[in-house]
Amino acid sequence: MIEIKNLSKAFSDRKILDGITVDIKDGELFSVIGPSGMGKSTFIKCVIRLLRPENGQIIVDGQDIGSTNSEFTLARVRRSFGYLFQEGALFDSLTVMENVAFGLRYLTDKPRSDYPRIVKEKLALVGLKDVEDLKPSELSVGMKKRVSLARSIAAEPKYMLYDEPTTGLDPVTTGMVKDLITDMREKLKITSVVVTHDLKLALEISSRVAMLYNGEFVEVSEPATFRRSENPEVKEFMEISGLSRK
Ligand SMILES: Nc1ncnc2c1ncn2[C@@H]1O[C@H](COP(=O)(O)OP(=O)(O)OP(=O)(O)O)[C@@H](O)[C@H]1O
Ligand SMILES: [Mg+2]
Repeated sequence: MIEIKNLSKAFSDRKILDGITVDIKDGELFSVIGPSGMGKSTFIKCVIRLLRPENGQIIVDGQDIGSTNSEFTLARVRRSFGYLFQEGALFDSLTVMENVAFGLRYLTDKPRSDYPRIVKEKLALVGLKDVEDLKPSELSVGMKKRVSLARSIAAEPKYMLYDEPTTGLDPVTTGMVKDLITDMREKLKITSVVVTHDLKLALEISSRVAMLYNGEFVEVSEPATFRRSENPEVKEFMEISGLSRK
């Protein structure tokens, strides 16, 4: 479980996150939505402590990493996270096999002789086979997303963080990524945090949706409740997103 208490983050005096408190329970698919520039990526980066918040606690399975300076503690807690970067961030000079095996070296104690088997297993989970020897340049955008996801889950994280997993993708690939995220939760029981400005996606896949506005979560609720929210920011975002209220 991830407990976030009073999380604040500013960039040179400009407050981006202003006292966010939320619990993300095991098994949840928790989405954070909000307009561009509101601090969604900042939020997700604080959760895994790629950014250091000014204030607040980030308690992951009982361990507060909000303000720790111990690289040892951070490294240990980060082991339980997979992170799908917006751009996928595959290494162009490495093969698919080497890309997916990358985290195994740093995040697990598995023997190298197991890597080919594990990599094939993870690729199969995301619906790919016989691509181990290809380079990223030989893959379609959708395949790259799958390989990135396979790499993120290779070390079997307990938590997955997705930053704008569908931005810039065509509708078919978007549908595919959506299914992958739901699959990861269902098949591997991975607790997921998705940040996106795609409200439609968030409402379809999430157990709960949080709306980030002016540094705060102005609404945190299940999709059905979220749709009916009377909160003015939520209503406006629903309209901008072309979603009618049901
Ligand atoms: N490292 C940084 N230094 C200074 N300002 C930053 C830094 N990172 C982000 N910001 C600023 O903080 C604000 C929030 O950025 P963030 O990337 O978290 O927004 P976002 O909600 O993820 O936006 P988008 O939907 O466009 O991805 C922006 O105004 C951005 O310019
Ligand atoms: Mg962002």
